[in-house]
Amino acid sequence: MGSLQINRRLPVLEIITLWIVITSCFFEGGECKNHHHHRRHHHHHQNWAGGNGRGHEEEAVYGPVGSRAHTAVLTDFGAVGDGVTSNTAAFTAAVAHLAQYELDGGAALVVPPGRWLTGPFNLTSHFTLFLERGAIILASQNISEWPTIDPLPSYGRGRDLPGPRYSNFITGYNLTDVIITGNNGTIDGQGKIWWDKFHNDELNYTRGYLVEIIYSDHVVISNVTFVNSPSWNIHPVYSSNVIVSGITILAPIDSPNTDGINPDSSSDVHIEDSFIVSGDDCVAIKSGWDEYGIAFNRSSERIIIQRLTCISPTSAVIAIGSEMSGGVRDVIAEDITAINSESGVRIKTGVGRGGFVKDIFVRRMSLHTMKWVFWMTGNYGQHPDEHYDPNALPEISGINYLDVYAENVTMAARLEGIKGDPFTGICISNVTAEVIDPKKLQWNCTNISGKSIHVSPTPCALLPDQGSNATQCPFPGDKFTDSVKNKYYSTRRI
Ligand SMILES: *[C@@H]1O[C@H](CO)[C@@H](O)[C@H](O)[C@H]1NC(C)=O
Ligand SMILES: *[C@@H]1O[C@H](CO)[C@@H](O)[C@H](O)[C@H]1NC(C)=O
Ligand SMILES: *[C@@H]1O[C@H](CO)[C@@H](O)[C@H](O)[C@H]1NC(C)=O
Ligand SMILES: *[C@@H]1O[C@H](CO)[C@@H](O)[C@H](O)[C@H]1NC(C)=O
Ligand SMILES: *[C@@H]1O[C@H](CO)[C@@H](O)[C@H](O)[C@H]1NC(C)=O
Ligand SMILES: *[C@@H]1O[C@H](CO)[C@@H](O)[C@H](O)[C@H]1NC(C)=O
Ligand SMILES: *[C@@H]1O[C@H](CO)[C@@H](O)[C@H](O)[C@H]1NC(C)=O
Ligand SMILES: *[C@@H]1O[C@H](CO)[C@@H](O)[C@H](O)[C@H]1NC(C)=O
Ligand SMILES: *[C@@H]1O[C@H](CO)[C@@H](O)[C@H](O)[C@H]1NC(C)=O
Ligand SMILES: *[C@@H]1O[C@H](CO)[C@@H](O)[C@H](O)[C@H]1NC(C)=O
Ligand SMILES: *[C@@H]1O[C@H](CO)[C@@H](O)[C@H](O)[C@H]1NC(C)=O
Ligand SMILES: *[C@@H]1O[C@H](CO)[C@@H](O)[C@H](O)[C@H]1NC(C)=O
Repeated sequence: MGSLQINRRLPVLEIITLWIVITSCFFEGGECKNHHHHRRHHHHHQNWAGGNGRGHEEEAVYGPVGSRAHTAVLTDFGAVGDGVTSNTAAFTAAVAHLAQYELDGGAALVVPPGRWLTGPFNLTSHFTLFLERGAIILASQNISEWPTIDPLPSYGRGRDLPGPRYSNFITGYNLTDVIITGNNGTIDGQGKIWWDKFHNDELNYTRGYLVEIIYSDHVVISNVTFVNSPSWNIHPVYSSNVIVSGITILAPIDSPNTDGINPDSSSDVHIEDSFIVSGDDCVAIKSGWDEYGIAFNRSSERIIIQRLTCISPTSAVIAIGSEMSGGVRDVIAEDITAINSESGVRIKTGVGRGGFVKDIFVRRMSLHTMKWVFWMTGNYGQHPDEHYDPNALPEISGINYLDVYAENVTMAARLEGIKGDPFTGICISNVTAEVIDPKKLQWNCTNISGKSIHVSPTPCALLPDQGSNATQCPFPGDKFTDSVKNKYYSTRRI
């Protein structure tokens, strides 16, 4: 197992330094300052999001997904980027105007440098929202500007409170071909008022999410920074062919439910090259809640996560559940780095959820300062109401973890299945957890079954060691990952 030493060369110091910078932004009196320069490039707007070719300036970054026949700039609609003037009317007018080009090559709305305050707004199809470097879209802190909307059918009610929920900040509803991208501009939810009211029980409805893409397909969210969401950050739900690439998500580590990316009853979702610091799970894969999720019956499947870096001291790097009643299957996660997080991968479920979690494959995790490397919880609790079915048991099977190195670990694993409904087919191979106190119990397993190969410290008896000649746990080939990524391009209709 000498090869594991290689992990010690990871840039832990750099990462910790970054972590200190980030936390000091949040905790030492206010906002992170944006140091980017505003540049003179308004005459190039056709290029910023148009993608028709001439842009070789350092900022002219637009991938193959960026081309649109029509481009407008937010200021064309009377917007004022002073951080004070409300631009709700400008965003609404801009999207309504650009919607006319849906079937005529599509359109991009360019948000130039500035602080653009606005209430919630909706996107349209064949549309790119392009945030230039130094562009900051600020969410209104006037709660009267946030309409209420129906709860999600697979949840039956708002997640925080029964009944409807506040609008998301940016919503894509029933769309095809939507892109949120740019040169690392920022979408700032200004969530503090929501967190405070949530903690003080002053809200009448569930908090909105920063970006929700619902009943949509062919969605790209890339090269943008998301900060201070009122609640979950990126929520693709009932959607397919979603790429999340090169994004940064920052929320104070004590902010409530600020999950990073939550694919929910969605398929063919590819998350890559992203950095998340949050007060809840960095990624949480979901599919509806108890009887509502069972009735809605839409799974999350073919979810690929690659090259994710996460800091989540009170939650998981990757969670599955707790709302998983429509089922979660075919999840691949690889090349995951975490610093100071509660658990590496966590499966959360309970009696009443129904559904399934199966065929989960995670490899090459490098974890630094963890409470648990692996955690499965079969008694998560939290039901939408009293009407959940106590006979609806989740099926958890085929969970594979390979090639994991973890240091400064409090406990290697806590794996709790459900009495009479054991979690099966757990396979753990080539894992080293450097634990803080080897004399303490390191594996606490109940109601699970599976096996282990080359795992240290020695796993519980319910995961018997297969001997030194046994082969690794299975992992799908690159073909599978590529097929998910390529499906976006091969099925996109412009
Ligand atoms: C994100 O930006 C990088 C350059 O920084 C660029 O290569 C890439 O194409 C962009 N990705 C998307 C999906 O727009
Ligand atoms: C966005 O669209 C949804 C669905 O049509 C609607 O319920 C909601 O009120 C719209 N939000 C805004 C801010 O216009
Ligand atoms: C808050 O928004 C409501 C509804 O748009 C508006 O009537 C009110 O003037 C706003 N309040 C402030 C302080 O801007
Ligand atoms: C979404 O699409 C469905 C089916 O086409 C339609 O019935 C519904 O009215 C649409 N909803 C919105 C808010 O656009
Ligand atoms: C984007 O901006 C965020 C916040 O300022 C920063 O942490 C991140 O490194 C930037 N990403 C890129 C690719 O420049
Ligand atoms: C919640 O409802 C109560 C009673 O209608 C009202 O006084 C209060 O302002 C509402 N809170 C918010 C945050 O809208
Ligand atoms: C849920 O959907 C799957 C296919 O998507 C189907 O096989 C299954 O029978 C459905 N379950 C229920 C309870 O309708
Ligand atoms: C075991 O995992 C480590 C990463 O933690 C990796 O470097 C090594 O190559 C793996 N060993 C085998 C035999 O796959
Ligand atoms: C190790 O973990 C403990 C918490 O269990 C933490 O206080 C300590 O700072 C960590 N040490 C290092 C070197 O990261
Ligand atoms: C082990 O887990 C069980 C629940 O599955 C719990 O009741 C018990 O306290 C745990 N033991 C230790 C030593 O953590
Ligand atoms: C489940 O775990 C409990 C607590 O360890 C144990 O008493 C029980 O026998 C287990 N049930 C099954 C079916 O494995
Ligand atoms: C492992 O394989 C080697 C070579 O085939 C064999 O000599 C050895 O006995 C095997 N060890 C075990 C524990 O099966």
